Amino acid sequence: MKAHIVTLPGDGVGPEVTAAAVAVLKAVAGHGGHEFSFEEQLIGGCAIDATGEPLPAATLDACRRADAVLLGAVGGPKWSDPNAKVRPEQGLLGLRAALGVYANLRPLAVHPALAKLSPLKDEKLKDVDVLFVRELTGGAYFGAKTRTADTATDECKYTEAEIERVARRAFELARARKNHVTSVDKANVLETSRLWRSTVTRIAADYPDVKLEHQLVDSMAMLLLTRPASYDVVVTENLFGDILTDEAAAIAGSLGLLPSASLGDGKVGLYEPIHGSAPDIAGQGVANPVGTILSAALLLRHSLGLAKEAAAVEAAVERVLRDGPHSRDIGGKAGTVQVCDAVLAAFAGRSSAADTYADLVNSCCG
Ligand code: IPM
Ligand code: MG
Repeated sequence: MKAHIVTLPGDGVGPEVTAAAVAVLKAVAGHGGHEFSFEEQLIGGCAIDATGEPLPAATLDACRRADAVLLGAVGGPKWSDPNAKVRPEQGLLGLRAALGVYANLRPLAVHPALAKLSPLKDEKLKDVDVLFVRELTGGAYFGAKTRTADTATDECKYTEAEIERVARRAFELARARKNHVTSVDKANVLETSRLWRSTVTRIAADYPDVKLEHQLVDSMAMLLLTRPASYDVVVTENLFGDILTDEAAAIAGSLGLLPSASLGDGKVGLYEPIHGSAPDIAGQGVANPVGTILSAALLLRHSLGLAKEAAAVEAAVERVLRDGPHSRDIGGKAGTVQVCDAVLAAFAGRSSAADTYADLVNSCCG
């Protein structure tokens, strides 16, 4: 098949991990006879430096024309002045909104070889397999903001339609898993959460085969640590989902491991690791590329319909997590390229890569 993929490496470690994931996508294309074309565009801090805007029009146009978008990370100390007029994060939020990718899928699995890195005890980690579905284009992130010298507000607004579409996505996804949805809100305090709860409950009637449970977000933050294996699909609003998925990443052992897919009703999906730009290690070649490579696997599955290829990439990552080499965040010494080469080798079913990162990084593809 032919596919056009826009890459947005962004800031910090973004370019390093994106290059690794692109190398893997090129190997997938070469292996399966697919033609993938890649187009790199600016987003975030580097876009502000080059154009004054975090989401230049050329970037948005390219993303709208693409079959899928692969993003590294945005932000960094250089652009963190609280009084700055534009911030890198606005580029990412603007892109999510413009592409209408309202459902952010963040799977949490704990690899047995990495269980020792998790702050949780082994017995709690057995059978942990959670899919977070975070609402991504509404709530406090996108409400009106006000600011005077001593007062600030962030409006949190949700419409029934916004809740309904993400809830349906969660129920559909649960059907392909363990038929269990946990909806997380703060309905004892927030009006938006009361609308959330009644809407999710109403939608659940269309999915009688799926069990629905509600949890308050504060108690969910605790339950995730005390019994993470009891959850299947967890659906929640934007801000709660942001917070709970960082907690989930800690359970997995490293923020560098978890991928995400952001999907809407249109064809373009946005794929990014859940970690940030990690400015402390940027440019050193030591960032863990696994979260981004797994995001590329989600891209293959959800935007290109290449489920077999996606599973093969996931299996290759699985093998590298089992056998090493491991990057620093998960207790090893390997650099980004070494981990990428190991994934490429495992993907090709060899002990050393048929194609290495160095072969693939500057090659055009297909
Ligand atoms: C995430 C990030 C973003 C978010 C930031 C960078 C705007 O934390 O994707 O989880 O809050 O959504
Ligand atoms: Mg976050």
